[in-house]
Amino acid sequence: MDLCKSNAEISCLDELVVKLREIFSQDDIDVDYVQQLMLSYKSNPRDWRKYAHFDRHRYTRNLVDEGNGRYNLMLLAWSEGQGSSIHDHSNAHCFMKVLAGSLREIRYDWPKEEHNLFGDDGVKEMKMQRETTLNTNDVAYINDSIGLHRVENESHTQPAVSLHLYIPPFNSCRTFDQRTGHCNKVTFTFHSKYGKRTPFVVSVKN
Ligand code: SIN
Repeated sequence: MDLCKSNAEISCLDELVVKLREIFSQDDIDVDYVQQLMLSYKSNPRDWRKYAHFDRHRYTRNLVDEGNGRYNLMLLAWSEGQGSSIHDHSNAHCFMKVLAGSLREIRYDWPKEEHNLFGDDGVKEMKMQRETTLNTNDVAYINDSIGLHRVENESHTQPAVSLHLYIPPFNSCRTFDQRTGHCNKVTFTFHSKYGKRTPFVVSVKN
């Protein structure tokens, strides 16, 4: 493990990928070290431009590396005003580094389940924990024991780009309604993989 930790200076995205693969060939996760590693990479658009596919309707998820099945590293491209819903992280670790622009992270407590006299689910506004603005090169970390979050590009003039590392990888999570705390399961898709647009899947019913 010490060998992996000996050199935390990262000069480009490819080097970060190599380092992450090395780290996650082992089972234990040192959150502070991974955060330092991601911080030590200074964003350079030359490294990640090929993954940054924007869509004017919603933010896109673009796979960069699957890390031998141990993690997913992906680039998210946020046009002006785009944001995610409040969501959990399916028991995974989530590291998020801003590569361009700024993003607002809004954290929430888990909703408290309430039942009224009639056995219905109670309706309760979700409690916000904190709001943080993350600027280019900042890194944030969250997991389900910390709470839930949503992310937003508040700018009306600047797109934003972020690098997300999920350990272990997951392809579905729960999203939450801020006013009621009610949740839904959602399945994720990738807009592109390794820089190439993923084909649309059309299901044909007999
Ligand atoms: C986010 O953290 O807001 C992005 C969620 C995702 O699509 O992976």
